[in-house]
Amino acid sequence: MSQAHLAYKHRVNLGSYYTPPEIVNTAWEMIAPYVNSQTTIIDSACGYGDFLKDCGQALTIGCDIDGTAIDVAKKHNDKTQFFQTNALCNVSREKFGISQQSDLIVVGNPPYNDKTSLIRHNIKDVDFDIDEDIACRDLGISFLRSYNKLEADVICVLHPLSYLIKPANFRLLKEFTENYRLIEGRLISSWEFPESAKHTPFPIVLALYQRDTQGMAYSFIRSFRFRPEGRGNFSLGDFDYINNYIDKYPKKRNRPTYVEEDVHRSENDNPLFFWTMRDINALKRNRTFVESYSTNTIVIDKQKLDYYAYIDVFKRNLHRLPFYFGNCDVLIDDNLFKQYKSAFISNTVRHHPFLKKHFQINPIETQQASSGLDTYFKLLLGEHHV
Ligand SMILES: C[S@@+](CC[C@H](N)C(=O)[O-])C[C@H]1O[C@@H](n2cnc3c(N)ncnc32)[C@H](O)[C@@H]1O
Repeated sequence: MSQAHLAYKHRVNLGSYYTPPEIVNTAWEMIAPYVNSQTTIIDSACGYGDFLKDCGQALTIGCDIDGTAIDVAKKHNDKTQFFQTNALCNVSREKFGISQQSDLIVVGNPPYNDKTSLIRHNIKDVDFDIDEDIACRDLGISFLRSYNKLEADVICVLHPLSYLIKPANFRLLKEFTENYRLIEGRLISSWEFPESAKHTPFPIVLALYQRDTQGMAYSFIRSFRFRPEGRGNFSLGDFDYINNYIDKYPKKRNRPTYVEEDVHRSENDNPLFFWTMRDINALKRNRTFVESYSTNTIVIDKQKLDYYAYIDVFKRNLHRLPFYFGNCDVLIDDNLFKQYKSAFISNTVRHHPFLKKHFQINPIETQQASSGLDTYFKLLLGEHHV
């Protein structure tokens, strides 16, 4: 492991997961058309400096907050100018001696560390200053904002795909997306990073952006064709999603209605509950139908029970989906679902017998149901079916 000089706690806090060489090479192929003798290339979170190749003509600059990493980088590479400094504080070209005139390319793999997320929160402790105008709960977003502050002409970095495809994250990147346009997006599984292979894989994009006053709206991302390694391409807009049919999140007003009326409910009227869904990876971790109410449950609108059955079955078929759907909502083809509905309901009832009385549809044979589901998922996912 390359970042071995750091204890686990520091690896988590600095987001130090060094990039495999094949991915570094791909990034270089992507920026190659933009590199000339006027270019300055910077990796402001450079680790051992693996992204800073000697390309003969361009000036290269490496920066990292981690002094040991910079010492190693200096030993490997004497053509690059290295700085041991915090890249998110006093961000400016002058800090690195880059002139306003030079064409600036940013490369690398900045840390993506959500300071507020509960994952490994017990050891999280980011204690460096971040300029107010680029501060964010996620370090990776701060890094993207810092490239905008440097007025980089071209940016080729890795970051979670969720920054672009989750509307709430996309909004956090407002100033960035007003000034940059995505040119190319290769999708990589977090499993390419050995230390992440223990967790559910999430999609990372190796993104090439060009400074552009047109910027990009969310609709641009929705129709953007991302390129997963070894497969065709993938665009969010190719699919329909479950949130067009049901509520994904609990409605505040559900609770009082439920609590007050529950005592008087007849057996048939008993409410049904479903665990909240954030995205496909969250569905992988969480339950679907649950027995009791909590702040994380949705009170099911029984008119839409079929769609909840759909999600329940979808969860058991997640192995058919490649990693890059991890941060998407549950996909659905509603017309096709209507054709195969009996297969879905039968499968749900088999796993949750208490639901049987809520469906009008007669269950079909297990064999027939599983072949129906197989056909449905192959048609839904097409070339993406695993
Ligand atoms: C994902 S690693 C990437 C290292 C190297 N570019 C590579 O891909 O092999 C992230 C790097 O960001 C550095 N880092 C974290 N916070 C930083 C900050 N505020 N300023 C500069 N570097 C930082 C870490 O020390 C770590 O080396």
